[in-house]
Amino acid sequence: MPLMQHVEVPVPSAKKNELLLKLEAASINPVDWKIQKGMLRPFLPRKLPCIPGLPIAAGTALQALRSIGAKFDGTGKPLNVLITAASGGVGLYAVQLAKLAGLHVTATCGARNVELVKSLGADEVLDYRTPEGASLQSPSGKKYDGVVHCTVGISWSTFEPVLATSGRVIDITPNFTAILKSALHKVTFSRKRLVPLLLWPNKADLEFLVGLLKDGKMKTLIDSKFPLSEASKAWAKSIEGHATGKIIVEMEG
Ligand SMILES: NC(=O)c1ccc[n+]([C@@H]2O[C@H](COP(=O)([O-])OP(=O)(O)OC[C@H]3O[C@@H](n4cnc5c(N)ncnc54)[C@H](OP(=O)(O)O)[C@@H]3O)[C@@H](O)[C@H]2O)c1
Repeated sequence: MPLMQHVEVPVPSAKKNELLLKLEAASINPVDWKIQKGMLRPFLPRKLPCIPGLPIAAGTALQALRSIGAKFDGTGKPLNVLITAASGGVGLYAVQLAKLAGLHVTATCGARNVELVKSLGADEVLDYRTPEGASLQSPSGKKYDGVVHCTVGISWSTFEPVLATSGRVIDITPNFTAILKSALHKVTFSRKRLVPLLLWPNKADLEFLVGLLKDGKMKTLIDSKFPLSEASKAWAKSIEGHATGKIIVEMEG
């Protein structure tokens, strides 16, 4: 069966107390195909269709940075933060937001995106395919107060030595092992901690993020655009896991 099928449906009409919205474009998030593959079954309703919240990537970056202690009103401490997969949908927002909060940013991404991530303000960028990148060690020797962890496959034993005394790894894609590790850290009052994060979309965060975009303080980087008739290609590209920024589906007509 194809991953996605393009079908024509009649334009719905708004009933009493309903609004009919015309969407111009949407972006694909990994969570969309994870729902399709049943990977989020324990967390989301089983009944489809299930439409997850829109402001996923920037909202997640914001909430992950806040859980590390980032403040956006000038009252925060100059923390050292590591952002893994800084070239992805979440990571590119996380780098920009961390700089707006006055943090020192070390980032990881593939070699082809090092200059882009630097241009967004990252202070140090590691190519994740090199031994230095895999070790996550800051070239200037900084220990991280927090990590916005936007990829998979990095074990706690890699994070632990690069964290400051009370450093936290905010894991936005926690697996079962990570959830167990996080529980263990809690019950043993560990100072260094792994903390799973699931986005909690809310109006105040959305307004804050829209304000930054409007004021030109943050931007959205677009990997690619597909017409709605080719949404399956956008879907497949997201599953490949090599987007630089957001994958967009544009509605025609
Ligand atoms: N908890 C939540 O509420 C929440 C919300 C949003 C997203 N998420 C999850 O967060 C993850 C990231 O989402 P996303 O939209 O940012 O993904 P994405 O856009 O698909 O990320 C792709 C990027 O990650 C880079 N990358 C892949 N593996 C890497 C590694 N080991 N080290 C450094 N960079 C690496 C790729 O670089 P190359 O092409 O060079 O390999 C590519 O540029 C997904 O698993 C998603 O489901 C969770």
